[in-house]
Amino acid sequence: MSNPGGGAPQKTPSITLNSGAKIPQLGLGVWQATNDETERAVGFALGEAGYRHIDTAAAYGNEEGVGRGLAASGVPREDVFLTTKLWNADQGYESAFSAFDASLDKLAVDYVDLYLIHWPLQDRDRLLRTWEALEEIAASGRARSIGVCNFEPHHLRLLADRGGTMPAVDQVELHPHLAQHEIRSTAAELGVAVESWSPLGGTSNAGWGEHSKPNTLLTDPCIGAIASRHGKSPAQVLIRWHLQNGLIVIPKSAHPERIAQNIDVFDFDLTDIDLAEIGTLNDGVRVGLHPDEMNLAAPD
Ligand SMILES: NC(=O)c1ccc[n+]([C@@H]2O[C@H](COP(=O)([O-])OP(=O)(O)OC[C@H]3O[C@@H](n4cnc5c(N)ncnc54)[C@H](OP(=O)(O)O)[C@@H]3O)[C@@H](O)[C@H]2O)c1
Repeated sequence: MSNPGGGAPQKTPSITLNSGAKIPQLGLGVWQATNDETERAVGFALGEAGYRHIDTAAAYGNEEGVGRGLAASGVPREDVFLTTKLWNADQGYESAFSAFDASLDKLAVDYVDLYLIHWPLQDRDRLLRTWEALEEIAASGRARSIGVCNFEPHHLRLLADRGGTMPAVDQVELHPHLAQHEIRSTAAELGVAVESWSPLGGTSNAGWGEHSKPNTLLTDPCIGAIASRHGKSPAQVLIRWHLQNGLIVIPKSAHPERIAQNIDVFDFDLTDIDLAEIGTLNDGVRVGLHPDEMNLAAPD
C-alpha cells in the first residue's frame, strides 16, 4: 500500500476474509467521538500515523467526520479499509438498503469495504431479511464484504444453516477479561474472522449508560508489569495480545499521541509467558451488554 500522507510506513499485517478481501489487522475505532473529533482523528491516523483501516457506524453519528477525515488525509480511497454498520432501527429488507445509501452519502464514498449488522435482533425473520439485503448490497459491489457484530455462536449457526453468504467478520466485545473462546472456535469452524471491540477494556465513560463500567485493564497490575518488562505501555501490550491471538483489533482514541502509540506495536512480541499471564485475566466480565439479553433499538 502507498503512504502518500507521508506518515509512518505501513507495517500492519492483513487477514484475508472469506470474501477474498484483505483487512488490515489493526484499525482505528471512532465510537463516542463527535464529527469534528472524528475528522481530526481519522485525518491524523491515515495521513500521519500510518493507519489504513477505520471502523465507524451509522449509530455513532460521525460518518460525516470519517468522510471529511479521509478526504483531508490525502490517502487514496482504495488504500483505506472502511467499515460502517447498520443500526437496529433500520433492520429489515427495504430499510437496510435506505440505511446503506444514507451511510454512503454521509461517508462521501461510493463503496465501503465492510458493512456490518450492528446488533442481532431477537426477531429472527427480520434479522434474516436484513441479511438478505446485505447479500444483495455485496453482490452490487457497493460493500466489498459483509458481516455482523455481537453474534453469539447460535446466531452464526442460524446463518450457516440457512445457506448463502457467511459473514466475513463477527465483531464482538473481546479483551483479556472476555476472551470469547466459544465464539472464536465457532467462527473459526465457519470461516468467519473475529474482530475485537473495546479491545483496551472500553471507554470508562457513559457509553453504556447505566450499564457503564470503569476500564480496569489499562490499570491492571499484570498488564502493567508486562508493559514495564517490554518498555511499552499497557495499551500497546493489550493490542499485541489481540494481534498475536489472530484477532482484528480497532482501539479507539481521539488523541494523536495515543493514536500513534496504538499502532507502534510492531517492534516487540509478547512471550508465551506473557500470553499465559494475560490468559489468567479471563473472568468473563463484560464492558457492554450481552447480545442475548438486550434487543437494542428493535424496530416495531
Ligand atoms: N460493534 C459494536 O457493538 C461495538 C461496540 C463498542 C465498540 N465498537 C468499536 O470498537 C472500537 C473500540 O472500542 P471502544 O471505543 O469501546 O474502547 P477501547 O478501544 O477499548 O478503549 C477506548 C478508550 O481507551 C482510551 N485509550 C485509547 N488509547 C489509549 C492509550 N494508548 N492509553 C490510554 N488510554 C487510551 C480512549 O481514550 P481517548 O479517546 O480519550 O484517547 C478511550 O477512552 C469503538 O470505537 C468502535 O469502533 C463496536
